[in-house]
Parts: sequence; C-alpha cells; structure tokens
Amino acid sequence: MALVNTTEMFKKAYEGGYAIGAFNVNNMEIIQGITEAAMEQKAPLILQVSAGARKYAKHNYLVKLVEAAMMETGLDIALHLDHGENFEICKSCIDGGFTSVMIDGSKHSFEDNIKITREVVEYAHARGVTVEGELGRLAGIEDDVNVSAEDSSYTDPAQVEEFVTKTGVDSLAIAIGTSHGAFKFKPGQKPQLRFDILEEVERRLPGFPIVLHGASSVMQEYVEIVNANGGKMPGAIGIPEEMLLQASKMAVCKINIDSDIRLAMTAAVRKHLVDHPDHFDPRQYLTDARNAVKEVVAHKMQYVLGCSGKL
Ligand code: G3H
Ligand code: 13P
Ligand code: ZN
Repeated sequence: MALVNTTEMFKKAYEGGYAIGAFNVNNMEIIQGITEAAMEQKAPLILQVSAGARKYAKHNYLVKLVEAAMMETGLDIALHLDHGENFEICKSCIDGGFTSVMIDGSKHSFEDNIKITREVVEYAHARGVTVEGELGRLAGIEDDVNVSAEDSSYTDPAQVEEFVTKTGVDSLAIAIGTSHGAFKFKPGQKPQLRFDILEEVERRLPGFPIVLHGASSVMQEYVEIVNANGGKMPGAIGIPEEMLLQASKMAVCKINIDSDIRLAMTAAVRKHLVDHPDHFDPRQYLTDARNAVKEVVAHKMQYVLGCSGKL
C-alpha cells in the first residue's frame, strides 16, 4: 500500500485494453466513496486534485485524507495534480507528496507548451513523479476558465511525436470532442468523438498512454433526480458510455471524471432533504452522498473503464 506514480498502471492498462479512472476529489466523503468502490471492484485508481480543490480543501487536508483512505482500503493510489497551470503549482504538488502531475500548457503556443512542459518533466522525473501534458484545447468550464466551443480545438496528430519526444512526458491528454462540465452538447446535437484523431495518434505513438479529459457521461438518472427535487439542470448532456468504453479499449489509459460525481452527490443530497425535511444532521444526507459517489464510481469501473478486477 503506497502512493505510486502512473508508470506501471498505464503499462498494464495499455496492454490490457482498459482505462483507469481519474476521479476529482474535494472532500472526505468523495475520497471515501471512490476508494470504497475501487477496493470492492479491485480496480487501479488515480485520485486527482485541481487548483480549485486545493483552494477549497487545502493541500494538506487532501493529502492526509488520501493517505487515510489508503490505510483503510490497502489500495495503492496515484495522487495526481489536475490541470497544473504553471511550473510553480506542479513543483508545489511534487514537493508536497503528489506522485503525478499534469502540466496543462494547451492554452500556449506549441513551442511554449513544449518549453513549460519540459521544465516540469525535468523537475518531476528527478523525483520519481510522472507527468501528463496536453495538446489541443477542450471546450467547457474548469475552475473559473470557460473555454468556448469556438476557442476549443482538436489535437493535431501531426504534432504529437514532436511534443512527446521533446518534452519527455509520460502521458498525453488529447482533444477529440469531449469537454468539461455537465453541458457538453447542445440539446438535439448528436454526441460525437473524433475516433479518427485517436487512431492516428495511436498509430504515431504506439504503446503510449493517452488521456481523455471531460469524460463524464452526465448520467441521466441523476439529472432526473436533481430536476425532480428542486434542481434546474435541463439539457445536461455528456459523452455516451459506449464511446468511452471504445476509447478505453484503444490507447486511452486514463479517463477523467468529475461532473458525474458532482451530479450524483447533488442528486442524493437534494433527494434526501426533500424526502426528510426534518433532517438537519449533515451525516444523514452526506451518507447518501457518499453512497452515491461509490455507486457511480463502481458503475464507471465496470461498464465504462473496464478496470474492475485489474488489480
Ligand atoms: O477539469 C476540471 C475538473 O472538473 C476540476 O474542476 O477546477 O472546478 O475543481 P474544478
Ligand atoms: P468532466 O467535467 O467531464 O467530469 O471532466 C473532468 C475533467 O476532465 C477533470 O480534469
Ligand atoms: Zn480536465
């Protein structure tokens, strides 16, 4: 039982034709729900922390909660920085015990992205930490940054070999039509992913682990519970599960999921409070929230990632 980097898990995932779930964590109930599901499913696991999560819960609380979850479950876990914006935040997470970081230089020019990514790789690799880079730009909302559909761009497969060779990254996030948040497609729009881009990237980088961000399916049963209990999320649409399963059988070794967890928790809390208007002990509704996290994560591991039983 230890905090591990992603090298071994990606190698096994690539060879085994499955993906590992990278779930965003922000508090104790989320960490407990995810790790209980991973333990029961015997699944490899990445827990990831955004800048927003560090601001909300504080770095040390999150690291210590993840360590506590390892003690409770006996799992090896990769603790990963999600969307590191610059060298400083990556360094702070590496120095503070993370075993994997993402440097997201996707908003910069190709040359600047290579430069900043290379700098992080040098610092990280000297300390046994793995690094994820990104090429191409996803639409949607992360933290306070909202990338419009017009400003998003698919990954250009012609750039991937140069990027990987010059930076030395261990995995690469690509943009093939997924996006962050709960509103990924307009109502009536047919969800589509550019599998042709993924295939071309795979052809150019044989054996190299690819990452998909923005990969929540926005499970409709939870949207309905939210909407039936005072919420307003009409038109929330995500990536169809069968597309993600297809990607996980290809070169995609890491699939990022946050919105589905948020949605399941919110549905559980809303329903609990509507069903029990007299309850005011947070442990009552947070128990339902934690169970909802566990249920949604177990579902992903079995039916979307294919990583159940792969420990
Ligand atoms: O990709 C972004 C993740 O969903 C994290 O979201 O920055 O609001 O914590 P956050
Ligand atoms: P979702 O918003 O689709 O859950 O994506 C999360 C993500 O990509 C975190 O980096
Ligand atoms: Zn992301």
